[in-house]
Amino acid sequence: MRYGYFDDTRREYVITRPDTPLPWINYLGCEAYFGIISNTAGGYSFYRDARLRRVSRYRYNNAPFDLGGRYLYLRDQDSGEFWSPTWQPTRRALQEYTCSHGLGYTIIASRYASIAAEVRYFIPLGENLEIWQLNLKNEHGHPARLSVFSSIEFCLWDAQDDATNFQRNFSTGQVEIEDGVIYHKTEYRERRNHFAYFACSEKPSGFDTQRDTFLGPYRGWEAPAAVERGGCFDSVANGWAPIGSHQIDLTLMPKETREIIFLLGYHENPADQKFDPPGSQTINKKTVLPVIRKYLVRSNANAAFEQLKAHWDELLGTFQVQTPSADADRMVNIWNAYQCMVTFNMSRSASFYESGIGRGMGFRDSSQDLLGFVHMIPERARERILDLAATQLPSGGAFHQYQPLTKRGNNDIGSGFNDDPLWLILGTAAYIKESGDWSILEERLPYENEPGTETPLYEHLQRSLGYTLERLGPHGLPLIGRADWNDCLNLNCFSDTPGQSFQTTTNKDGKTAESVFIAGLFVMAARELAVIAQRGGLREEAERCLAAAARMEATVLQHGWDGNWFLRAYDDYGHKIGSAVCEEGKIFIEPQGFCIMAGIGLENGHALKSLAAVREHLATPHGIILQQPAYSQYCLDLGEISSYPPGYKENAGIFCHTNPWIMIAEAMAGHGDEAFDYYLRINPSAREEISEIHRCEPYVYAQMIAGRDAATHGEAKNSWLTGTAAWNYAAITQWILGIRPEYDGLRIDPVIPAGWQGFKATRRFRGNTYVIEVKNPSSLNRGVKKLLVEGREIPGNLLPAVAPEAAVIHVEAVL
Ligand code: BGC
Ligand code: NOJ
Repeated sequence: MRYGYFDDTRREYVITRPDTPLPWINYLGCEAYFGIISNTAGGYSFYRDARLRRVSRYRYNNAPFDLGGRYLYLRDQDSGEFWSPTWQPTRRALQEYTCSHGLGYTIIASRYASIAAEVRYFIPLGENLEIWQLNLKNEHGHPARLSVFSSIEFCLWDAQDDATNFQRNFSTGQVEIEDGVIYHKTEYRERRNHFAYFACSEKPSGFDTQRDTFLGPYRGWEAPAAVERGGCFDSVANGWAPIGSHQIDLTLMPKETREIIFLLGYHENPADQKFDPPGSQTINKKTVLPVIRKYLVRSNANAAFEQLKAHWDELLGTFQVQTPSADADRMVNIWNAYQCMVTFNMSRSASFYESGIGRGMGFRDSSQDLLGFVHMIPERARERILDLAATQLPSGGAFHQYQPLTKRGNNDIGSGFNDDPLWLILGTAAYIKESGDWSILEERLPYENEPGTETPLYEHLQRSLGYTLERLGPHGLPLIGRADWNDCLNLNCFSDTPGQSFQTTTNKDGKTAESVFIAGLFVMAARELAVIAQRGGLREEAERCLAAAARMEATVLQHGWDGNWFLRAYDDYGHKIGSAVCEEGKIFIEPQGFCIMAGIGLENGHALKSLAAVREHLATPHGIILQQPAYSQYCLDLGEISSYPPGYKENAGIFCHTNPWIMIAEAMAGHGDEAFDYYLRINPSAREEISEIHRCEPYVYAQMIAGRDAATHGEAKNSWLTGTAAWNYAAITQWILGIRPEYDGLRIDPVIPAGWQGFKATRRFRGNTYVIEVKNPSSLNRGVKKLLVEGREIPGNLLPAVAPEAAVIHVEAVL
């Protein structure tokens, strides 16, 4: 069953009923000011940091799930009837409803009582404000006397404090109202030099800024007292809960249309120019008013929207494909790329499943997000790499996260994940391969943001490798630390205390538990660093990396191979995990993916055996599960993985992030049909038809789909912020379609289903645009036999990166 449809031409997903199984959300904003918006206009906004600079308030875990947002109310002044054009929060049954989520904007259109309403929400490029463009049309045969009420609930900035520190916060809230603009200025009088504002293009006939006056005692957002009686109270918030609401009264003649623009924004003043006149407590509005005035003008708002569209056209133009699969095309050309941008911006901080107060930018998460983002804006990827590296510890280890506002690492959500530092090498390599910019390696960056400790980025990468090598266990495999990529495989935790966080508690500084996953990751990273060293003329250093990789590979083959698949780990007692000898958790997906991707077992047949085992034990129609059999009870020595009921999350859920590793491994083995088959199983668009089972958005990947052991097999959770986005993008574009940036050029090495007659792609790469046609006349899976560049055959399958002279280069590859 579907709840909408893809409009590929407009690059939108159009939801046709408001009561989707879960809120289906979208993101607004590209750089500093961001918003989350659901299909019923729920959600909130923040400036840079979802925790520390929350502009509007949102309550997670609400009932209904999605309550609180950018709500409007329409009231017919004659009948007294009122409704929300975005359905929530009144939930009055609308006669028509569509929500079109586009790239960086959302349009919700509806009709009720012959009033057509459309609200377009977006954030202009380069601005710290959002525009709500409301268009009304009277479709009655008679004049309509309407009141429009806007509403936004302000957050007192630090979302964590806002949700907990009521004894203080009920006394701090302050607003200012001037010329119809509502300013939220809590704590502006003291140490903050930023405020929020809510403006409107029409002259309001009333306003409210005190939430409980607007709503009335013991009432909620579904029927505010002000809306019900048809008039705001002109309340001024002093403490309690500051909100913004404008009342606009208008009469629409038959067929008449009217546009009203609302702006919700964030603004900063220099610390010494906060007040006007100086010495007063009144906000200095000199620099904010021009911005407000600009975007309240319709033509300016429309121009900003067109710019936003053009921006996305340009970004997506970096890579466009036409394959025999509509699901692949739609994800590659539109939604997967878009999700990669969102994960790049948000890491795992703010979604409808990440509260915005729990996590900042994850070290391993952001490093991996680069893989799907770097081709769109390499300069921003570069900045991110430098930010990450500057938080690295002198030991080569990493803070698990940093807050985007301060850019400083912290251990709030744990530390000692021994895989963390290695991902920086993969992220940096991806950047260089895309951009050809080797100079990044010379950037001097501190450790732990400590001035005076700067070394070139290259040394940071060396220390990343060193960190693993200095932490080897009894078999010579890397020690796992708190956990590796699988946050929940906690082999040094031994937690028996209810509620204790597995992510922050380590009860043992273990020197025994080892990870085969990190071993695979290490081999991959060490070989990458070897190439980088070689290029920098550091031949000995390159050999050292290669030797370390070879030693680790041999160790994996000796101690990390279980006979039919790669082992997962050794626990604190030296017992095997992910082995046929185990009762539960006999086979795990991660080492199969990572060891093969690192090239281990491709020559001796282990890779093929491992892939066959994955197919036999882990593959389901809804994707590949993380391990089997699921842990049926809590195991003190395994930690959080066994805390989940079987089939969910890391305990044998389909943890989608890992699936593309197997797709890539299959592709490396030349198995185009298998790789693409796995690709389609978790492709959200291919699952649209079963939206009532999948339940999450059909246009983006979710972190997890419930596994075979779960009561709700096939049900997705935690949409949007997941490494699944970047890795699937890499799997389909670089390994299945096989258009892969390398240090010296663009590799063309498709591994596709034999049934495909070919495909076309356009790829911008280092200043040139390659228009590529792949032909598969002999129904093969792999193997470019002939490569023609501008009609001339060249040897091999690498398009050498040439200085941009020809803007467009035509390429034909025949398998
Ligand atoms: C989840 C992991 C997550 C970790 C860190 C765990 O509860 O299962 O997927 O990465 O928390 O927040
Ligand atoms: C989600 C985290 O964001 C990611 O870093 C981790 O690898 C997976 N969970 C698996 O535990």
